[in-house]
Amino acid sequence: MTVRDILKMGDPRLLRQAQPVREFDTPELHALIADMFDTMHAANGAGLAAPQIGVDLQLVIYGFKKNARYPDAPEVPETVLINPVLTPIGDGMEEGFEGCLSVPGLRGSVPRYTRLHYEGFDQYGKRIVRDADGFHARVVQHEVDHLLGILYPMRIRDFTKFGFTDVMFPELDPNDDD
Ligand code: NI
Repeated sequence: MTVRDILKMGDPRLLRQAQPVREFDTPELHALIADMFDTMHAANGAGLAAPQIGVDLQLVIYGFKKNARYPDAPEVPETVLINPVLTPIGDGMEEGFEGCLSVPGLRGSVPRYTRLHYEGFDQYGKRIVRDADGFHARVVQHEVDHLLGILYPMRIRDFTKFGFTDVMFPELDPNDDD
């Protein structure tokens, strides 16, 4: 069990196009995913992408029953998603506030597709095929952006809705203010 350091915005490793995972169900992959869950849980994150711990692979994890950083968010199934491909369903988009463990202390309103079809693989190489909407769809789009070298501030259109978490959301626990 290892909590890894999370890279912060400005680190060029967050700007790479991640490489596909080619071997599934290996001890190395399972150990990496265990570290990612330890790291995400230690930070109360809703999701984490491998590039955020400096690993250049198309691998994201996400999911929670209840999340202190997003107290109003509905449950999202705990998921390991590898080599993902996203396809929006329709062109409807919605704005919603996001934070990122690589952008500590800040929140911004980001437009995301409302409904999404996504595919990929789990750590055993089993295919994942899902449709998602709302916060679930938002989390997937945020995490998969990390694999494209995109951090959420790059998606913000209205910079009047970008600021410090403790100013905009004083009701949140400052210990989760990342
Ligand atoms: Ni993030």
